[in-house]
Amino acid sequence: DEVRVCVEKAFTLAQVDERLFSSFIEHLGRAIYTGIYEPGHPLADEQGFRTDVIDFVKDLRVPLIRYPGGNFLSGYRWMDGIGPKEKRPVRLDVAWKTLEPNEIGIGEFYDWTRKVGSKVMGSVNMGTGTVQDAADFFEYCNYPGGTYLSDLRRQNGHDAPFDIRTWCIGNEMDGHWQICHLDAADYGKKALETIKMLKWIDPQSEAVVCGSSSGLMKSFPEWDRIVLEHTYEKADFISLHRYYENFDNDDDFLASFVELGTYIKAAIATADYVKALKRSAKTMYLSLDEWNVWYQRRQEPHDWQKAPSILEDHYSLLDALVVGGLGLTLLNNANRVKIACLAQLVNVIAPIFTKEGGSAIRQTIYYPFRDISLHGRGVVLTPVVHGPKKETKYGDCPLVETAVIHDEEGKTVTVFCLNTGKNDLVEFTLDMRSFGKLRMSFWTCLTGKDLSAENTFEKPNAVNPRNMPVEKTAASTFSITLPPLSWNVMKFA
Ligand code: AHR
Repeated sequence: DEVRVCVEKAFTLAQVDERLFSSFIEHLGRAIYTGIYEPGHPLADEQGFRTDVIDFVKDLRVPLIRYPGGNFLSGYRWMDGIGPKEKRPVRLDVAWKTLEPNEIGIGEFYDWTRKVGSKVMGSVNMGTGTVQDAADFFEYCNYPGGTYLSDLRRQNGHDAPFDIRTWCIGNEMDGHWQICHLDAADYGKKALETIKMLKWIDPQSEAVVCGSSSGLMKSFPEWDRIVLEHTYEKADFISLHRYYENFDNDDDFLASFVELGTYIKAAIATADYVKALKRSAKTMYLSLDEWNVWYQRRQEPHDWQKAPSILEDHYSLLDALVVGGLGLTLLNNANRVKIACLAQLVNVIAPIFTKEGGSAIRQTIYYPFRDISLHGRGVVLTPVVHGPKKETKYGDCPLVETAVIHDEEGKTVTVFCLNTGKNDLVEFTLDMRSFGKLRMSFWTCLTGKDLSAENTFEKPNAVNPRNMPVEKTAASTFSITLPPLSWNVMKFA
């Protein structure tokens, strides 16, 4: 098979917002306790944070980390997590039926994000929480001092405000599983009043309103339309969530990125409909603040335990290829998707996996996510692609999906490509004449014979990208043979 890609540097789509490479940590299972925080661990720092996990997160260069939930959020009392640890209450977490010890709260999480080089993407409880609870949380986090709540933060050891600029106004409020789920109009009204408080307290803050919890919800896109009709002029983003499953058809599963593109386009159309209805000059951006592969759902019964193993998917090479494809869809929609959070980051459907008292490993999906985060910054170009397509349940899927990033400062061009063909060595021709002559500086490839291969504590590097031989001579057209079922990153300078 042959695929021809013509890259023209003037055909720009958008400057990538680095928040596209964000992630998510919820008080859920072992994400916090024995994930990022394990005071007795030999590698724990003075605050009890695992330094092996810190190092893995740092390498991903994650700009924002959404916190504290997720479904957990809709029953969370943020004041439980502040003040002396020994006085904090142990609570029932009704969302996940576990015990929440509250040893970590906003102050500790903020400290951890600084250690990993990230910022907090805050979220406020729109389930059991009131508008006043949310406003109190904004004040505690962002108001400098001289009020009861800001001084409380200072007494608790944080003199300077946390300056949390991006706030999710609730989580998945369209879902019947959500604590105190609302209908779209009720949520829209509550979200509007909450955003007004947010922006009065901190005019620099941005608000993400809850869109649908998946494009598969029967209420999508009506929910989104109604929520936006209530909040359009005050909100900055509408959220999307989407997880992909393998229904025992690898071709369909590999085409998940096609479906993500369709979902994003439908959300954009909905937002733009409301824009037209309101005669607004403002464009609504999207925050895909939960995305990943998630389908294994292996878990032990865990009623009312502290930090049980929940949603600990073990990812395969195939899952990593799918995550790579989803990353390409994010880049190719960077004109409207400004924030995206890989859900989640540690242990719970996550690229980083820990053993209590033991080591930490990088799951297979760590690598494509790291690739897009490290090499996906710059201007997204829209190449012209000629190549075969195959039919899948999500529509026609290109044999090779690509994304091209021009980093004008670094003077490099990065070409990402996913070969979805099982038996197809692809002759991939890249025409980059508009850049003059370029040299290929590297090519890494994630592939393998066994699609079910995983990284384990015994074999932590079983699935790993490898360096491919590169053409050293300067050229304007490159011919590359892509291995079947492979995730590739090529850099030209
Ligand atoms: O990420 C796991 C869960 O998935 C989150 O708590 C929820 O928001 C979503 O349904």
